[in-house]
Parts: sequence; C-alpha cells; structure tokens
Amino acid sequence: MGSTPVIALNDVRKIYPLLSGDVHALDGVSLEITKGEFVAIMGPSGSGKSTLMNQIGCLDVPTTGTVSIEGQDIGTLSDYDLTALRRDSIGYIFQKFNLIPLLTAYENVEYPMLLRYRKYDDTGRVQTLLDRVGINAALAAHRPSELSGGQQQRVAIARALINEPAILLCDEPTGNLDSKTSTQIMEMLADLNREGRTVIMVTHDESTAEYADRTIRIQDGRIA
Ligand SMILES: Nc1ncnc2c1ncn2[C@@H]1O[C@H](COP(=O)(O)OP(=O)(O)OP(=O)(O)O)[C@@H](O)[C@H]1O
Ligand SMILES: [Mg+2]
Repeated sequence: MGSTPVIALNDVRKIYPLLSGDVHALDGVSLEITKGEFVAIMGPSGSGKSTLMNQIGCLDVPTTGTVSIEGQDIGTLSDYDLTALRRDSIGYIFQKFNLIPLLTAYENVEYPMLLRYRKYDDTGRVQTLLDRVGINAALAAHRPSELSGGQQQRVAIARALINEPAILLCDEPTGNLDSKTSTQIMEMLADLNREGRTVIMVTHDESTAEYADRTIRIQDGRIA
C-alpha cells in the first residue's frame, strides 16, 4: 500500500497506420502492477496482448500515453538508459523461444551478461543457472535446433534470468509445449515469482492463468 507500482500505464494507445486504415491495437489502457505480483493477461487473438507486452517491456513506444517503470516515465529516458533498463531490469520469455540459432545453449544464456559486463562468465553462473532449469553441461553445448521445445524454453528462461531482472515478461511461455512440460515451466515461473520477481504472462489457457494472483482481460485493445 502506498508504494510506487513497479509498472504503470496511463491511457496507452497504439495505432498502426495501414493503407487499409488505422489499426487501434491498444485503445486507452491504464493499469498498475505492484512489485512481486504475478499477473496473467488473457483475451482473444488480435485483442492486443502482445502489443501490450511490448509497451510494458519497453520494446516499443506507445502512440500516446505513458509507461512508467519503477516510477520513471520511460518516454523521458535516453536511448542508452532505455537499453540498460531492458537489459538489466526485464527478462523476456517468448512463445517461440527466440534463441540465437548459431549460438550454443550456454552461449545464448551468457550473451546478455556479455553485453552488460563486456566479459565472459568466469564465475560459473551461466551453468549454475542452466542446471537450475534442468539443462546439464552436455545439453548446454547444443545449439537450439538440437534441443526439444521444452529444453529450448528452459534455456530461454535461464537467459531471461542471467542479469537478475526484477520483472519477467512471458508471452505465451507454454504455447508451444505439451501439458507435462507446460506444468514444469509454470512451476518454475511460480518459484521465480515466490522469490520476489514480478511476473507478467500472456496466456490463452485458463488453467495456466490460475498460477497468477490476478488476471487482466483485454478485448479490442481495451481492458474488459
Ligand atoms: N506491426 C503491426 N502492424 C500493423 N498491425 C499490427 C502490428 N502488430 C499488431 N498489429 C495488429 O494489432 C492488433 C493486436 O495485435 P496483437 O499481436 O497485440 O494481438 P494478440 O492479442 O497478441 O493476438 P494473439 O493472441 O494472436 O497473439 C491486431 O489487429 C494486429 O493485426
Ligand atoms: Mg500475441
């Protein structure tokens, strides 16, 4: 109570101007998310969920309205500060894993750390994190194409965690996984949330949403 929300959106609109007419992907979204919350975002296909995640994750800028992270309006940040915020404060987990195909699993996890500290990991942190998500050193030498979907998502989670972000953004993290693997991934996200991380997750699945403290429903670019 009374503390600054970790994420606040104020009347965010996102319009994609197309030749066929403007698409109002987000049509005045305001919301606040408290530190340590686990929030699910649900809604029909095309309702604006990924667009909303991209604004929250500072991967895109709204047409109008403001996004604040830890009390700071990101519209006022320099490119340098925005890059640092994305790299150090937010971990991203996507439905399609988005690993770098030419790098091994190990190198994919090490990469954000390399960007941050400009040196290779000499602490063992990369493999410790991979072990935590169930990827041993032998598997860590594989490229993404040589891993199963579940293994790729584990690597993606380790990569999202390497810089110790306070916020985890997950866009359908279990969308490409079977139900047993999905449950394992969701247990992992629930653990990370219990450790104090704020988790925001898009899902189509009501049973997946049950892991969250709160569900935000979105329809036609508005909170329903
Ligand atoms: N880059 C873009 N250019 C033009 N229109 C876009 C763009 N990205 C998204 N849209 C449109 O914005 C609307 C919201 O898209 P968004 O990807 O946010 O939906 P979603 O809720 O994530 O859907 P899904 O559940 O299928 O992933 C859709 O009508 C979509 O066609
Ligand atoms: Mg989407």
